Amino acid sequence: MKINKICCIGAGYVGGPTMAVIALKCPEIEVTVVDSNFERIKAWNHPNLSNLPIYEPGLAEVIDVSRGRNLFFSTDIDKAILESEMIFVAVNTPTKTYGKGKGMAADLTNVEKCARHISKISENDKIIVEKSTLPVRTAEAIQKILKTNTKGLNFEVLSNPEFLAEGTAIQDLFKSDRVLIGGNQTENGIKAINSLVDIYKKWIPERKILITNLWSSELSKLVANAFLAQRISSINSISALCEVTGADVQEVSNAIGKDSRIGSEFLKSSVGFGGSCFQKDILNLVYLCQHYGLNEVADYWEGVIKINNFQKNRFSNKIITSLFNTVNEKKISILGWAFKKDTNDSRESASIYVSDNLINEGAKLAIYDPQVTSDKIILDLKTLWESRGDSEIEISCKLKNVQIFNNIEDSLRESHAFAIMTEWDFFKELNFNKIYSIMIKPAFVFDGRKILNINKLKSIGFECFEIGKS
Ligand code: UDX
Ligand code: UDX
Repeated sequence: MKINKICCIGAGYVGGPTMAVIALKCPEIEVTVVDSNFERIKAWNHPNLSNLPIYEPGLAEVIDVSRGRNLFFSTDIDKAILESEMIFVAVNTPTKTYGKGKGMAADLTNVEKCARHISKISENDKIIVEKSTLPVRTAEAIQKILKTNTKGLNFEVLSNPEFLAEGTAIQDLFKSDRVLIGGNQTENGIKAINSLVDIYKKWIPERKILITNLWSSELSKLVANAFLAQRISSINSISALCEVTGADVQEVSNAIGKDSRIGSEFLKSSVGFGGSCFQKDILNLVYLCQHYGLNEVADYWEGVIKINNFQKNRFSNKIITSLFNTVNEKKISILGWAFKKDTNDSRESASIYVSDNLINEGAKLAIYDPQVTSDKIILDLKTLWESRGDSEIEISCKLKNVQIFNNIEDSLRESHAFAIMTEWDFFKELNFNKIYSIMIKPAFVFDGRKILNINKLKSIGFECFEIGKS
């Protein structure tokens, strides 16, 4: 089936960039991205491209080419569903915060709502593409819901997980290592798969397009993220050993990464991985294994998360012990709030947890990030504290110890220490002589990303700690 119109429900970090690239590469297809959040759609339509709702290098340029030509952002979900032959679902699927599977399973409320809505609104057959990361066998559930339509329509469900990483989303979409499409191996299923292959073929070589059954595709996404996160936890576990033995984790990482069987990517030791996917997807995998009674497998993967929490706590403890065992009333600068550089996304960022630990010890935090807004920073902390059952009074007391700065120098003035939490490139080029002069002495540096020239900082007079080095 030739596709003329597609729509995507969910204009987030996945839906927005993915549809922008499809619209760019397929000018003959009309692409409409819809979202229930009016403000978000307004921002996607903002005439000034620096006001797009997500910060992603190269995104504005791509939007500039297609927006208004064959790429549209709208809140009219019904119209988009009615008119499209293919519907991508890219709504968020957070970890459940209630009921069965609380804290582990994916919350499928949004996905189910979408399926019911599509079924109700549609007046002809459609292809539904799961873009959101979903537990294995969700497609089956979506199919069941869609089948309840009383109009005799046929909906073919495909799984097409997104592998883009934030900060490099546009490049990742241009040059995907692979595109994975899972579908039913029936006549209609194969037709639907071919329709989606025809879209990706416009810029992805066919040998990179992998076709699997639905469940393999759904599981592959969880497993890919689990394997990537596992590498980070593996090297982070070794960083703790390096710090006490005198080995240097960067040298170890370099040495082992040269083995082509291991490879060099995702071996950068850090203060801990963040982002909306790794923890959520591993918890999902753990829940799935437990559900099937595979407790040893569940425990194995849960270890990846345990090490990540250990790493974040280790880092904040290091700050506390270095500052003479107390940070009470001391100003500490947190440089970077995003979970990685080149994004304004802070979901599950290590900064949130390290900050929480320091605030609980009485520290006064001065937070700076070039892309994350102060409202978002406050919201991240409040959400964490609310989830732990803190009262409103407790939360407002804690917030009195949090100050957010737009100017990095102001955030460092009269600080006892600064911690690098995000690897923003320009942090490497800061004027550290000047910074040293405005900080309280002894001035401490905690490099959670291993981006600074520690020898240079030591020669200025800083007391330094970097992950994975004694
Ligand atoms: C994506 C994937 O979809 C998720 O499964 C994956 O694990 C993480 O990445 P992402 O694009 O990052 O999610 O999420 P987000 O930026 O929160 O965007 C989701 C959008 O869907 C939001 O803008 C939200 O308003 C919208 N939405 C949600 C709807 O339009 N309708 C709904 O019913 C629910
Ligand atoms: C990840 C996957 O890479 C992507 O394929 C999937 O579609 C979504 O989840 P993302 O979370 O956007 O992407 O970013 P990623 O680059 O994977 O980084 C995740 C976290 O790991 C970040 O906090 C990053 O700083 C950290 N990280 C990454 C390390 O600590 N060390 C590394 O070597 C690599």
